[in-house]
Amino acid sequence: MEKEILIPREKIQARVKELAKEISSDYEGKEPILIGVLNGVIFFFADLVRELSVPNKIDFIRAASYGSKSTSSGNIRFTKEVEIPVKGKPVILVEDIVDTGETLSRIGEIMESNGAESLKICALIDKLERRHKAVNIDYCGFQINEGFVVGYGLDYDEKYRHLPDIYVLK
Ligand code: IMP
Ligand code: MG
Repeated sequence: MEKEILIPREKIQARVKELAKEISSDYEGKEPILIGVLNGVIFFFADLVRELSVPNKIDFIRAASYGSKSTSSGNIRFTKEVEIPVKGKPVILVEDIVDTGETLSRIGEIMESNGAESLKICALIDKLERRHKAVNIDYCGFQINEGFVVGYGLDYDEKYRHLPDIYVLK
């Protein structure tokens, strides 16, 4: 499949540093729990948390959705659950890309029912075209309108995750 570079690695790294700075300043004096949504988030998550200047804890959740491969069906189950207790703690959910919004709104509901003190969302890419569940993204790396993107953790059929830059598939 043809692909074209969309966001080069230098631009990604600069934006990740800005996001980490913003989060560090908002959470001064606190110890947020950052929860990464596997698998696509791995590189973004690793780069982001290593730039934070506030103490923090990390954990992961993995969601699988049935149905078509390139869009969320809304029918979501969890194949890895959060293990660190979030009750009374400030939680930041970290996602690679928000598309329909189904995955994040489900995870958000779970964090709230588990008693998180506060919940914020950090996403590397906010893809607007197919959003149908309203999601409030507090820390957003990049906005795109449409297209299927790969690289820097993002996959198409488990391919292209390892690429250091972000591409759009043609
Ligand atoms: P949502 O529940 O529709 O918001 O789906 C979000 C998930 O779908 C992301 O975490 C990705 O795993 C996947 N996804 C959506 N759009 C893309 C894309 O353009 N490239 C790679 N994965 C995507
Ligand atoms: Mg994902």
